[in-house]
Amino acid sequence: MTHAELLARHRAVLPSWLALYYSEPIALVDGQGCRVVDAEGRRYLDFFGGILTTMVGHNVPEVVEAVREQAGRMVHTSTLYLIEPMIELAERIATLSGIPGAKVFFTNSGTEANEAALLLATTARRSNQVLALRNSYHGRSYAAMGVTGNRGWSASSLTPVNVSYVHGGYPYRSPFRDLSDAGYIRACVDDLRDVILTTTAGDVACMIAEPIQGVGGFATPPDGLFGAMKQVLDEHGILFVSDEVQTGWGRTGEHFWGIQAHGVIPDAMTFAKGVGNGLAIGGVVARGDLMDSITASSISTFGGNPLSTRAALATIDYLLSHDLQANAHKMGSRLRQGLDALAARCPVVGDVRGKGLMAGVELVQPGSTEPHPAAAAQVLEEARRGGLLLGKGGLHGNVLRVAPPLAVSEAEIDEGLGILGAAVQGVR
Ligand SMILES: Cc1ncc(COP(=O)(O)O)c(C=O)c1O
Repeated sequence: MTHAELLARHRAVLPSWLALYYSEPIALVDGQGCRVVDAEGRRYLDFFGGILTTMVGHNVPEVVEAVREQAGRMVHTSTLYLIEPMIELAERIATLSGIPGAKVFFTNSGTEANEAALLLATTARRSNQVLALRNSYHGRSYAAMGVTGNRGWSASSLTPVNVSYVHGGYPYRSPFRDLSDAGYIRACVDDLRDVILTTTAGDVACMIAEPIQGVGGFATPPDGLFGAMKQVLDEHGILFVSDEVQTGWGRTGEHFWGIQAHGVIPDAMTFAKGVGNGLAIGGVVARGDLMDSITASSISTFGGNPLSTRAALATIDYLLSHDLQANAHKMGSRLRQGLDALAARCPVVGDVRGKGLMAGVELVQPGSTEPHPAAAAQVLEEARRGGLLLGKGGLHGNVLRVAPPLAVSEAEIDEGLGILGAAVQGVR
């Protein structure tokens, strides 16, 4: 089946709002490590990993074997029965989280994980008021859209939570952009105080934030911002939820969780994407008392099922035994050097940011900060033609997202940089 035939069938039966990449969309049918093959036999370096989800690489034997073995015995039981891999995974994540007395609830996606975290916080605090960051993305349910500060991903204004948005996640387009890091943090903390004082009834349930905004274009605030904000939250008893759906598991290189760059232990963290290396799994890890604050029964039929939890255990084992966080740090530095050099010779690059293997390249009209979404679209196409798959994002659709699997090699980083460099240099 050709891509053109698949596209015609796709368009006939799938929603118009289910966005596809590329003027001639492709299907990926095979993969090995950081490389994938499309349905027409073309090969690519995959520097987006199905939106940061193929975390340790495609077709990793240890993960594939664990899934195959589990699928051959028991795929589903429901959480009405004890599930050993779910229990073991919860133990692992509770320990890895660094949250004292942590408990874990498993879901099937990041959206559901954030729903669960908001349920915990609003129940524990008996308040439906929530703080979120401008330019954030937290998912596609009503509550998750409610805390999403990006009009392009807010399909409805209906929301069960009463949200106030604060500054801070996106320095490049912030009114505080010209301040030093310390000044920026001070300005954001002042804004937070002001928002609590002027737009809420005071008894806010929680603040939810991504340590690096994913869909928002890998927007990266200065280290320490959330630690400083947490001091204000603590004055009011407001809980802090870190959305680690993109930043977790060592992707940022320096730390295992993105929030650790801010010297703060959150009350809850949500996770999804990479932990199952492609199997559908998400969840929330929270302080035990917070997790247990729900008074009615609550269940996720598929959440924590034997197959996805077995895949997650195998993924985490692989990640830790190969020290992929250290690899993300090393390869991330190499990637960053290459991107900084590209920025120095291409005026269309307005900003290079991110941490580890989560690098954002914001494209602008040369000589200004005017967003240049057409350039980002052109680079995405050119890179694909050159054999490199990238992501795109940002409020204005003008940010390239470079996020290879954490096992990426030096040679692959260099190859990817070469293709990306040629594509960016070709922008007119
Ligand atoms: C930071 C963040 N939170 C939540 C989500 C939602 O996750 P899912 O698409 O698995 O529902 C995403 C998805 O991109 C995300 O990037």
